[in-house]
Amino acid sequence: MTQHLFLPGRRAFLSSCALGAAFFTTRGLFAGELTRTPPQMEGPFYPDKLPLDTDNDLLVINDSITPAVGTITHLTGRILDARGNPVRNALVEIWQCDNKGVYLHSSDSGRRAGDKNFQGFGRFLTGSKGEYYFRTIKPVPYPGRTPHIHFKLKRGGKELLTTQCYVKGEPRNERDGIFRSIRDPKAREAILVAFTPMKESRIGEVAANFDVVLGLTPAG
Ligand SMILES: [Fe+2]
Repeated sequence: MTQHLFLPGRRAFLSSCALGAAFFTTRGLFAGELTRTPPQMEGPFYPDKLPLDTDNDLLVINDSITPAVGTITHLTGRILDARGNPVRNALVEIWQCDNKGVYLHSSDSGRRAGDKNFQGFGRFLTGSKGEYYFRTIKPVPYPGRTPHIHFKLKRGGKELLTTQCYVKGEPRNERDGIFRSIRDPKAREAILVAFTPMKESRIGEVAANFDVVLGLTPAG
């Protein structure tokens, strides 16, 4: 698997963004208080054929010079076990529709014209702090759904969790049946993510942080 951190943007992001400090804060101290990330349905659009490029930069496919259309989003987070310890070597997969609401799936992109520059799917293998990073677009709504990003977590070939995260403060959330299927307010809060404008960005980039807490303690 090829994976790169997209270094220039990443470095600028960490050095300039206040979220950088929170990103590496140790949460283990509050292990007993961590809310487990609730599972959410996979939905019909996990790619039926993986793109040629599956890295963590969904805005650019391979060496294309034309980026995807959308609000550039720096999506970070950590994968934690039930006690709040970071989970390393977890494969984080995300997929989402493009700015026109079209998924990278033959039953969607095969029927409608989407943004051919959007990768639609990406992967990241967590390091020793359980951290991940994607550069993608802020999710947009499509008929019947509030904006969301799909997540699937695997480790050692085993699926650990499938879920979705949502935009905090998005009014459509309250009308979304899949989001509303989560009854516990704390569990709902756990998958609501603030997409915060980056003050230093001249092109309207946003930062989002989504920590995932697994309901089990992986061995090793
Ligand atoms: Fe979806």
